[in-house]
Amino acid sequence: MKLKKLTLKNYRNYEDFEYDFNSNKTLIIGKNAQGKTNILEAVYYLCALDSQRIKKDSELITFNKDFLNIKADIFKTNTDITLEITINPPKNKILKVNGLKKTKSREFLRVLKSVNFSSSDLLLLRGEPSNRRKWLDLAISQVYPLYLDKLSKYNKIRLQKANYLDGGNINNNMLDVFNQQMAIECANIIFLRKKYLSELERIAKQKHAKMAQSEDLSIHYQTITDNDLSVVELNDLIYNKLNEIKPDEIKRAQCLIGAHRDDIDFYINQIDSKKYASQGQQRTIVLALKLAELQILKDKIKETPLLLLDDVLAELDSNRQNYLLNAIDDDIQMIITSVDTLAFAPEFLKNVDIIKIKEGKIINNDTSSET
Ligand SMILES: Nc1ncnc2c1ncn2[C@@H]1O[C@H](COP(=O)(O)OP(=O)(O)O)[C@@H](O)[C@H]1O
Ligand SMILES: [Mg+2]
Repeated sequence: MKLKKLTLKNYRNYEDFEYDFNSNKTLIIGKNAQGKTNILEAVYYLCALDSQRIKKDSELITFNKDFLNIKADIFKTNTDITLEITINPPKNKILKVNGLKKTKSREFLRVLKSVNFSSSDLLLLRGEPSNRRKWLDLAISQVYPLYLDKLSKYNKIRLQKANYLDGGNINNNMLDVFNQQMAIECANIIFLRKKYLSELERIAKQKHAKMAQSEDLSIHYQTITDNDLSVVELNDLIYNKLNEIKPDEIKRAQCLIGAHRDDIDFYINQIDSKKYASQGQQRTIVLALKLAELQILKDKIKETPLLLLDDVLAELDSNRQNYLLNAIDDDIQMIITSVDTLAFAPEFLKNVDIIKIKEGKIINNDTSSET
């Protein structure tokens, strides 16, 4: 699939932005804080209706403006498709596919797919569990558009329960209703996360072994149980645990167990990589994960997703950079950001369109390699 054109209105530091992607590879060049990542973020938002960098959608709106609009022309399975998002709080966001109003998010999410790989992902193993959960959630929602619905249901019920616990005066039956609902939503999330991670592990292992021959990568999802259970079995297990810890939850006025507390472990030859792997080893793991993410998505949608590389190539040594670029099929559309062109081989630059960005504006675009 291809992104042919992107138009932004009041998105972060872009009051008006329009660009036709004419080449399969586009390199966005600019100094720090000029708006490079913002462009990739807008493209990714079209794919995931979320961004790694936000808590609330309203953060995406240009300061002192009250709405934003993102439009994109897509070419997919020989068809032109337009996507449009308007965010205008406190109203609900409006999603349109081919101009049709009231598109549901899961339908919208089916259209454009991408893998986003940024230099901050290289810190995934050093980061907080919440960073790892968000990475995983975004990756899964690209593959199963329904996942986002399930996740928002779970989060809603969890927040309601947390508020209820916080309010004191707990009625046992009422808490039980919350626990029943929480158990089923939680079971759905955990089941899909486990399923995705086992597929990811299978593929990432192979990718990883090509870069680090004597090192075996394994992935472990840290949750309520290590057993592979069905959704129904998970539901029963979680519900029973919630019952057991009722007094604790009431005392501490918190939701103590569930998908919102889970984490992901990465092992190399059975050694915990979050604690013991070198920075280089951690980078190799992330690279393998990202390539596996791309592979899973490609196999699932039977098309080439977009690849968004944010500042990541310049961060990788030439071995890992070559490995990454060689692992990516030629027909994949890539949008890449970097402060300059120095990290790129002249061969690579021959085939890319370069856009230069300054303070939220394109200052020129051509295919020459000087910066
Ligand atoms: N909601 C917003 N409204 C206006 N400007 C914003 C908003 N959010 C971020 N910015 C600006 O965007 C710039 C950072 O953009 P970013 O794409 O992250 O830069 P980089 O080129 O380093 O990737 C900063 O100048 C920041 O002030
Ligand atoms: Mg950036």
